Amino acid sequence: MHSSLMETKNVSVFETYDELVKATAELFVRLADESIKARGRFITSLSGGNTPKGFYARLAEKEIASQVDWSKVFVFFGDERTVAYQSPDSNQRMITEHLLSKVPLNRENVFALIDPDMDPKQTAIDYERTMHEFFRLAGDELPEFDFMLLGLGDDGHTASLFPGSPALQETQRWFVENKVEKLNTVRLTTTFPVINNSRNIIFLASGKSKAAVLKDVLTGPEGKYPSQNVRAENGNGKLYWYVDKDIASEL
Ligand code: 6PG
Repeated sequence: MHSSLMETKNVSVFETYDELVKATAELFVRLADESIKARGRFITSLSGGNTPKGFYARLAEKEIASQVDWSKVFVFFGDERTVAYQSPDSNQRMITEHLLSKVPLNRENVFALIDPDMDPKQTAIDYERTMHEFFRLAGDELPEFDFMLLGLGDDGHTASLFPGSPALQETQRWFVENKVEKLNTVRLTTTFPVINNSRNIIFLASGKSKAAVLKDVLTGPEGKYPSQNVRAENGNGKLYWYVDKDIASEL
Protein backbone atom coordinates (compact mmCIF):
# COMPACT_ATOMS: atom_id res chain seq x y z
CA MET A 1 0.00 0.00 0.00
CA HIS A 2 1.24 3.46 -0.88
CA SER A 3 2.28 5.42 2.16
CA SER A 4 1.01 8.63 0.53
CA LEU A 5 -2.48 7.15 0.38
CA MET A 6 -2.25 6.13 4.01
CA GLU A 7 -1.39 9.69 4.91
CA THR A 8 -3.77 11.62 2.67
CA LYS A 9 -6.75 9.42 3.50
CA ASN A 10 -5.66 8.70 7.07
CA VAL A 11 -5.86 4.93 6.63
CA SER A 12 -4.68 2.68 9.47
CA VAL A 13 -4.21 -0.96 8.51
CA PHE A 14 -4.16 -3.72 11.15
CA GLU A 15 -2.84 -7.23 10.70
CA THR A 16 -5.98 -9.02 11.88
CA TYR A 17 -9.64 -8.28 12.63
CA ASP A 18 -8.88 -8.75 16.30
CA GLU A 19 -6.13 -6.13 16.23
CA LEU A 20 -8.41 -3.82 14.26
CA VAL A 21 -11.23 -3.91 16.79
CA LYS A 22 -8.81 -3.57 19.70
CA ALA A 23 -7.29 -0.46 18.11
CA THR A 24 -10.77 0.95 17.46
CA ALA A 25 -11.69 0.43 21.10
CA GLU A 26 -8.49 2.22 22.11
CA LEU A 27 -9.33 5.06 19.76
CA PHE A 28 -12.77 5.34 21.40
CA VAL A 29 -11.12 5.53 24.84
CA ARG A 30 -8.70 8.25 23.72
CA LEU A 31 -11.32 10.35 21.93
CA ALA A 32 -13.76 9.98 24.85
CA ASP A 33 -11.10 11.23 27.22
CA GLU A 34 -10.20 14.19 24.99
CA SER A 35 -13.84 15.17 24.38
CA ILE A 36 -14.81 14.94 28.03
CA LYS A 37 -11.80 17.01 29.07
CA ALA A 38 -12.54 19.63 26.43
CA ARG A 39 -16.34 19.77 26.39
CA GLY A 40 -17.58 17.66 29.31
CA ARG A 41 -19.25 14.97 27.22
CA PHE A 42 -18.68 12.44 24.46
CA ILE A 43 -21.49 12.20 21.93
CA THR A 44 -21.46 9.07 19.82
CA SER A 45 -23.38 7.72 16.86
CA LEU A 46 -23.00 3.96 16.49
CA SER A 47 -23.35 1.80 13.41
CA GLY A 48 -24.92 -1.56 12.71
CA GLY A 49 -23.85 -4.50 10.59
CA ASN A 50 -21.51 -7.34 11.45
CA THR A 51 -18.13 -5.65 11.40
CA PRO A 52 -18.49 -3.52 14.55
CA LYS A 53 -19.64 -6.42 16.75
CA GLY A 54 -16.07 -7.27 17.73
CA PHE A 55 -15.36 -3.61 18.45
CA TYR A 56 -18.38 -3.33 20.75
CA ALA A 57 -17.40 -6.55 22.52
CA ARG A 58 -13.84 -5.32 23.02
CA LEU A 59 -14.96 -1.96 24.29
CA ALA A 60 -17.23 -3.71 26.80
CA GLU A 61 -14.34 -5.69 28.27
CA LYS A 62 -13.50 -4.55 31.78
CA GLU A 63 -9.92 -3.44 31.18
CA ILE A 64 -10.99 -1.16 28.32
CA ALA A 65 -14.46 -0.14 29.55
CA SER A 66 -13.03 0.92 32.91
CA GLN A 67 -11.00 3.62 31.14
CA VAL A 68 -14.14 5.44 29.98
CA ASP A 69 -16.24 7.81 32.09
CA TRP A 70 -19.56 6.35 30.88
CA SER A 71 -21.63 8.88 32.81
CA LYS A 72 -20.53 11.44 30.21
CA VAL A 73 -21.05 9.26 27.14
CA PHE A 74 -24.19 9.76 25.03
CA VAL A 75 -25.31 7.25 22.44
CA PHE A 76 -27.33 7.74 19.27
CA PHE A 77 -27.93 5.13 16.58
CA GLY A 78 -26.59 6.12 13.18
CA ASP A 79 -29.02 4.04 11.20
CA GLU A 80 -31.66 1.40 11.67
CA ARG A 81 -33.62 -1.18 9.75
CA THR A 82 -37.42 -1.03 9.78
CA VAL A 83 -37.80 -4.02 12.07
CA ALA A 84 -38.97 -4.49 15.62
CA TYR A 85 -36.43 -4.30 18.42
CA GLN A 86 -36.73 -8.07 18.96
CA SER A 87 -35.61 -8.82 15.39
CA PRO A 88 -32.10 -10.25 14.88
CA ASP A 89 -31.72 -7.52 12.23
CA SER A 90 -32.23 -4.69 14.70
CA ASN A 91 -29.11 -2.55 15.02
CA GLN A 92 -30.29 -1.21 18.36
CA ARG A 93 -30.68 -4.70 19.68
CA MET A 94 -27.25 -5.78 18.41
CA ILE A 95 -25.50 -2.73 19.86
CA THR A 96 -27.36 -3.12 23.15
CA GLU A 97 -26.44 -6.79 23.42
CA HIS A 98 -22.77 -6.33 22.57
CA LEU A 99 -22.07 -3.05 24.32
CA LEU A 100 -24.76 -0.95 25.98
CA SER A 101 -26.01 -3.63 28.35
CA LYS A 102 -22.46 -4.39 29.47
CA VAL A 103 -21.15 -0.96 30.44
CA PRO A 104 -22.30 1.41 33.20
CA LEU A 105 -24.25 3.73 30.92
CA ASN A 106 -27.18 5.72 32.28
CA ARG A 107 -30.34 4.74 30.46
CA GLU A 108 -31.14 8.38 29.82
CA ASN A 109 -27.86 8.76 27.91
CA VAL A 110 -29.03 6.32 25.22
CA PHE A 111 -31.41 7.67 22.58
CA ALA A 112 -33.52 4.93 21.07
CA LEU A 113 -35.57 4.90 17.91
CA ILE A 114 -39.05 3.87 18.92
CA ASP A 115 -40.94 1.30 16.82
CA PRO A 116 -38.99 1.70 13.56
CA ASP A 117 -41.07 -1.10 12.05
CA MET A 118 -44.40 0.70 12.49
CA ASP A 119 -44.07 3.99 10.66
CA PRO A 120 -40.59 4.78 9.32
CA LYS A 121 -41.45 8.34 8.34
CA GLN A 122 -42.77 9.22 11.78
CA THR A 123 -39.91 7.36 13.47
CA ALA A 124 -37.41 9.49 11.54
CA ILE A 125 -39.26 12.72 12.43
CA ASP A 126 -39.38 11.70 16.10
CA TYR A 127 -35.72 10.75 16.16
CA GLU A 128 -34.72 14.00 14.53
CA ARG A 129 -36.73 15.83 17.19
CA THR A 130 -34.90 13.84 19.87
CA MET A 131 -31.61 14.98 18.36
CA HIS A 132 -32.76 18.61 18.27
CA GLU A 133 -33.86 18.44 21.90
CA PHE A 134 -30.48 17.04 22.91
CA PHE A 135 -28.29 19.44 20.94
CA ARG A 136 -30.46 22.57 21.37
CA LEU A 137 -28.91 24.48 18.48
CA ALA A 138 -29.92 27.77 17.00
CA GLY A 139 -31.21 28.19 13.43
CA ASP A 140 -29.55 26.03 10.85
CA GLU A 141 -26.56 24.96 12.98
CA LEU A 142 -25.66 21.30 12.63
CA PRO A 143 -24.98 18.92 15.51
CA GLU A 144 -21.41 17.89 16.24
CA PHE A 145 -20.96 14.24 17.04
CA ASP A 146 -17.65 13.43 18.72
CA PHE A 147 -17.57 9.85 17.43
CA MET A 148 -19.45 9.02 14.23
CA LEU A 149 -18.90 5.33 13.54
CA LEU A 150 -19.53 4.12 9.99
CA GLY A 151 -19.29 0.89 8.06
CA LEU A 152 -18.72 0.18 4.39
CA GLY A 153 -21.15 -1.97 2.41
CA ASP A 154 -20.02 -4.05 -0.55
CA ASP A 155 -21.94 -1.68 -2.84
CA GLY A 156 -20.16 1.32 -1.32
CA HIS A 157 -23.05 2.35 0.95
CA THR A 158 -22.51 3.70 4.41
CA ALA A 159 -24.97 4.10 7.26
CA SER A 160 -28.24 3.45 5.33
CA LEU A 161 -27.21 5.72 2.49
CA PHE A 162 -27.42 3.33 -0.45
CA PRO A 163 -26.44 4.04 -4.07
CA GLY A 164 -29.26 5.80 -5.91
CA SER A 165 -31.44 6.23 -2.81
CA PRO A 166 -33.28 9.53 -2.14
CA ALA A 167 -31.51 10.34 1.14
CA LEU A 168 -28.24 10.92 -0.73
CA GLN A 169 -29.69 14.27 -1.88
CA GLU A 170 -30.80 15.41 1.57
CA THR A 171 -29.33 18.75 2.59
CA GLN A 172 -31.66 19.94 5.39
CA ARG A 173 -32.85 17.05 7.49
CA TRP A 174 -30.62 15.36 10.09
CA PHE A 175 -32.25 11.95 10.07
CA VAL A 176 -34.60 10.50 7.46
CA GLU A 177 -36.40 7.42 6.23
CA ASN A 178 -34.83 6.16 3.02
CA LYS A 179 -36.34 3.87 0.42
CA VAL A 180 -33.83 1.27 -0.69
CA GLU A 181 -35.15 -0.23 -3.92
CA LYS A 182 -32.60 -2.99 -4.25
CA LEU A 183 -33.42 -4.39 -0.81
CA ASN A 184 -37.11 -3.64 -1.29
CA THR A 185 -37.21 -1.97 2.07
CA VAL A 186 -37.08 1.33 3.89
CA ARG A 187 -34.17 2.19 6.18
CA LEU A 188 -33.67 4.98 8.67
CA THR A 189 -30.48 6.96 8.47
CA THR A 190 -28.42 9.90 9.57
CA THR A 191 -27.80 12.24 6.63
CA PHE A 192 -24.54 13.46 5.09
CA PRO A 193 -24.71 17.02 6.50
CA VAL A 194 -24.74 15.58 10.03
CA ILE A 195 -22.18 12.86 9.37
CA ASN A 196 -19.81 15.35 7.77
CA ASN A 197 -20.10 17.84 10.61
CA SER A 198 -18.77 15.34 13.15
CA ARG A 199 -15.55 15.91 15.02
CA ASN A 200 -14.36 12.37 14.40
CA ILE A 201 -15.70 10.14 11.63
CA ILE A 202 -14.45 6.58 11.84
CA PHE A 203 -14.90 4.07 9.05
CA LEU A 204 -14.44 0.58 10.46
CA ALA A 205 -14.21 -2.00 7.69
CA SER A 206 -12.73 -5.45 7.19
CA GLY A 207 -12.67 -8.54 5.02
CA LYS A 208 -11.30 -9.66 1.64
CA SER A 209 -14.71 -9.53 -0.06
CA LYS A 210 -14.70 -5.73 0.19
CA ALA A 211 -11.09 -5.20 -0.97
CA ALA A 212 -12.07 -4.06 -4.48
CA VAL A 213 -14.73 -1.64 -3.28
CA LEU A 214 -12.39 -0.11 -0.70
CA LYS A 215 -9.78 0.43 -3.40
CA ASP A 216 -12.35 2.08 -5.63
CA VAL A 217 -13.74 4.25 -2.84
CA LEU A 218 -10.30 5.52 -1.87
CA THR A 219 -8.58 5.75 -5.22
CA GLY A 220 -11.27 5.73 -7.90
CA PRO A 221 -13.14 8.69 -9.37
CA GLU A 222 -15.30 10.62 -6.92
CA GLY A 223 -19.08 10.37 -6.97
CA LYS A 224 -19.40 6.66 -7.66
CA TYR A 225 -20.25 5.51 -4.11
CA PRO A 226 -22.18 7.10 -1.24
CA SER A 227 -19.24 6.48 1.12
CA GLN A 228 -17.18 8.87 -1.02
CA ASN A 229 -19.53 11.68 0.06
CA VAL A 230 -18.24 11.37 3.61
CA ARG A 231 -15.84 14.21 4.31
CA ALA A 232 -14.66 15.95 7.46
CA GLU A 233 -16.27 19.34 6.80
CA ASN A 234 -16.26 20.62 10.36
CA GLY A 235 -13.22 22.85 10.91
CA ASN A 236 -12.31 20.58 13.85
CA GLY A 237 -13.24 17.41 12.03
CA LYS A 238 -11.14 14.37 11.28
CA LEU A 239 -11.86 11.29 9.16
CA TYR A 240 -10.24 7.92 9.96
CA TRP A 241 -10.23 4.70 8.00
CA TYR A 242 -9.61 1.76 10.36
CA VAL A 243 -9.24 -1.40 8.29
CA ASP A 244 -7.68 -4.84 8.40
CA LYS A 245 -5.04 -6.24 6.05
CA ASP A 246 -7.61 -8.28 4.11
CA ILE A 247 -9.73 -5.35 3.01
CA ALA A 248 -6.59 -3.31 2.33
CA SER A 249 -5.06 -6.03 0.16
CA GLU A 250 -5.71 -4.21 -3.12
CA LEU A 251 -4.51 -0.80 -2.02
C1 6PG B 1 -26.27 -1.46 8.74
C2 6PG B 1 -25.21 -0.43 8.59
C3 6PG B 1 -24.43 -0.49 7.33
C4 6PG B 1 -23.20 -1.37 7.53
C5 6PG B 1 -22.64 -1.88 6.23
C6 6PG B 1 -21.54 -2.89 6.45
O1 6PG B 1 -27.25 -1.21 9.39
O2 6PG B 1 -26.09 -2.54 8.17
O3 6PG B 1 -25.01 0.50 9.50
O4 6PG B 1 -24.06 0.71 6.78
O5 6PG B 1 -22.22 -0.66 8.23
O6 6PG B 1 -23.69 -2.50 5.53
O7 6PG B 1 -22.08 -3.99 7.09
P1 6PG B 1 -21.25 -5.26 7.51
O8 6PG B 1 -20.31 -4.83 8.59
O9 6PG B 1 -22.27 -6.24 8.02
O10 6PG B 1 -20.54 -5.74 6.28
